[in-house]
This record gives sequence, C-alpha cells and structure tokens, in this order.
Amino acid sequence: MPQERALKRSVCDLFKRRFHFPVRNRSGIFALGLHEHTGTGTARGGKAVLLLAKSAFAAAPHREMQRIAAMVGLMPGVTKALCCFSEQGSPSLRDALRTVSGGSFATIVIVPLVLPMEPSFHNWLTRSLKRWQAEDGFAWPQVRIARDIAQSLHFEPLLAALVAGTAAEPPVLPDSVHKPEGSLVPAQKRRVLVCEGGACNAAGADVIWGHLRNRQVERKLRLTGDGTMTAKSTCLGPCNLAPVLQVFPEGTYYGGVTEAAVDRIVEEHLVGGHVVSDFAYAPTGRKQRLRTIHPKNPEKPKI
Ligand code: FES
Repeated sequence: MPQERALKRSVCDLFKRRFHFPVRNRSGIFALGLHEHTGTGTARGGKAVLLLAKSAFAAAPHREMQRIAAMVGLMPGVTKALCCFSEQGSPSLRDALRTVSGGSFATIVIVPLVLPMEPSFHNWLTRSLKRWQAEDGFAWPQVRIARDIAQSLHFEPLLAALVAGTAAEPPVLPDSVHKPEGSLVPAQKRRVLVCEGGACNAAGADVIWGHLRNRQVERKLRLTGDGTMTAKSTCLGPCNLAPVLQVFPEGTYYGGVTEAAVDRIVEEHLVGGHVVSDFAYAPTGRKQRLRTIHPKNPEKPKI
C-alpha cells in the first residue's frame, strides 16, 4: 500500500509539473484536464463547456457524467459545464445547446468524450451545429470543438496512470459454475431502422438516432399501440435521401429526416398508424431527390 500511495503521488506530481493543471484524485480515479486553456473568461461571460458522450441508459452513468461536468465547472475560465449525449441520454446535445446558445457566454466549447473518434463523428457534429445555428436564427456565441482525446498531448500520461493503477484492482476470475440465462422474445410489432451507412452518418444519423431513442423512452413506445422497437442498420439503399429511416411493418422510407420529422413520425405513424407523407418516399422505379424545403418552414418540405 505505501508503494501504491507513492505511485499515485508521483503521477499527480507529474501532471502538476507537466501541465500546470490541478489534478484531483476522487474515488481512486485520476482526473485529467482535456483543455489546455487556463485563462479567465472574457467580459461577455466566459465559456460554457458541453461534455459530449455517446449514450447513457441508466441513472449511474448519468450521475457519473454530472460529476465530471461539476469537475470541469471548477476549472479556470469555465462559467458553466454541462454533460450531454449524441445518441441516447438526456439532455441531448441539441437541448444542451439550447440551454447555453442564447446565454451571455463568449464561447461554447464542445468536448467529445469519444474513443475512437471516427472522422464521420466530427463531420456530423460540425454539420449539425451549422444547421442548428441557421434554424435558431440568432447569433450564437462562438462554438469550438475540442480535439480528439487520443491526439491530446496529455493522453499518453493518462494511459500510463490508468495502466499503473490496475495494480490495485482485484483480478477478474472465472465463475465456478456456468449458469445459462434465458431471453424474452419481444412482443412488439413495429420496427424502426435508422440508417448508419456512410452518407447517413455524414448527414447526422447519430443525432436522429439519439432523438428517436429519447422519444422512445419519453413516449414509452415499446408499450404503446403495436409496440415499437428501434435498431440501427447498415445502408438502407437511397443514400441521396440521407438521413434515412425505415418504418416496418409497412416498410415506409423516410428521407431528409430532422428532429422535428422524427417527432411527427413518432406521433403520426408509430402511435397514430398513418404514414407522414411530407417525409415519406415511396418506391417509384425512378431515382428520387430530396424534396425542396419550404423557406418559411424549414421542417415542412414543399411537395
Ligand atoms: S447510407 Fe443511408 S441509405 Fe445509404
């Protein structure tokens, strides 16, 4: 134990010396600053930091994200820190941005807590931010996206600390008796497939997926009406209509799907049983393009 304490102390000292950054040790976890900025906020109100994770289903990971956000909230120059999710979890990135974009912050910093960071993740994030700024119709604070965690100068010492810390963890041993578990066969009749192919990912499929999953939880869609289950899929075919989702048992294709379109598909199709023709594309045997968006109502295509 004295050896372990000495190791933790030396890693803490290493961080402090190398990065001039306060390092805390809570519950045996070494915290590392992801930002290299340590100045104070500007006169307009400093920085709002959004810690962006992919998904959190249960209460404990939500609490963990809030704990990390509280840690970031104490950092120099940070006026507000929130956690948010790009897929399932609350608040969504869009909702967190609504909280801070109309405020008096000089800058919004988005820190994706994602490993590995696929190029498509950064692409949809950038495209979604541009679309949301245009939709909101007012000037947001400046938005910046933190670098990929694995590209940070601080990543290597963090890994070293994690590896060294395993000496204090108990080893994982095999179960003495193998107990096979059973599974329930789902009763739900409806399925929604959200395309996660290349074109749809670049068009923001993750945001659509997250929004749908949050609505699924809020509206208890598994238990409502015929019951709906959702799943991600590989390319569904009509890539130029991205982002695409398909609703079964009808097999209805929806293209150019936005968060508002998801809300209508949930209420009108999944709950009400009627195809939402504004966003639906029926097979015609000919190539189809996305229909023009009505200038005064960006969520309603002009047909
Ligand atoms: S990538 Fe989504 S339809 Fe092809």
